[in-house]
Amino acid sequence: MTDLENDLAKILITREQLQARIAELGAAISRDYAGKDLLLLCILKGGVLFLSDLVRAIHIPHAIDFMAISSYGGTRTESSGVVRIIMDLNANIANRDVLIVEDIIDTGRTLTYITELLKTRNPTSVKICTLLNKPSRREVTVPLDYIGFDIPNEFVVGYGLDFNEVYRNLPYIGVLKVELYARGESPEHSPA
Ligand code: IMP
Ligand code: MG
Repeated sequence: MTDLENDLAKILITREQLQARIAELGAAISRDYAGKDLLLLCILKGGVLFLSDLVRAIHIPHAIDFMAISSYGGTRTESSGVVRIIMDLNANIANRDVLIVEDIIDTGRTLTYITELLKTRNPTSVKICTLLNKPSRREVTVPLDYIGFDIPNEFVVGYGLDFNEVYRNLPYIGVLKVELYARGESPEHSPA
């Protein structure tokens, strides 16, 4: 067991489960976007491992681009939903089919903000592909077009997802031990 694994309460989604599901998502995207001008827009940093495996499961021509965001305030395990653009994407998205590639949708605030912003730039379509979804935490409705896994209300790390910038390199999704982050956060913000 590595040092990082010691910090986990359990492994939630194995490497094999991730790869099998990503193959299915890639096949669905390849089918749905055939003949379209597809641009995969990866939200940094959490989405980067997912993107790199997803593009290898997509068999139609497409471009990739990146956008880096960070949310103001919140706690170490909660996004505030007030989003700051750290790095905007390079591509002109007018008349293109944009598919946002994100690690996890929690309250839905981050992706609502990003989607609304992108729509002002006149793309043909903006859809969302998220690896993980925490439906029990949703505060604002955001239509999700491709979902890897619905997960319970637990704070997860690995495969791009971090806690204080650590654990992104784990090749699976794990649940972080509560004692590593619970102190100092209000009870309503603690995972069930
Ligand atoms: P939302 O605006 O609440 O949907 O927040 C989404 C963002 O919060 C994600 O892109 C992650 O950066 C972060 N996040 C939410 N839940 C988790 C988690 O369980 N582990 C790691 N990051 C998370
Ligand atoms: Mg993120």
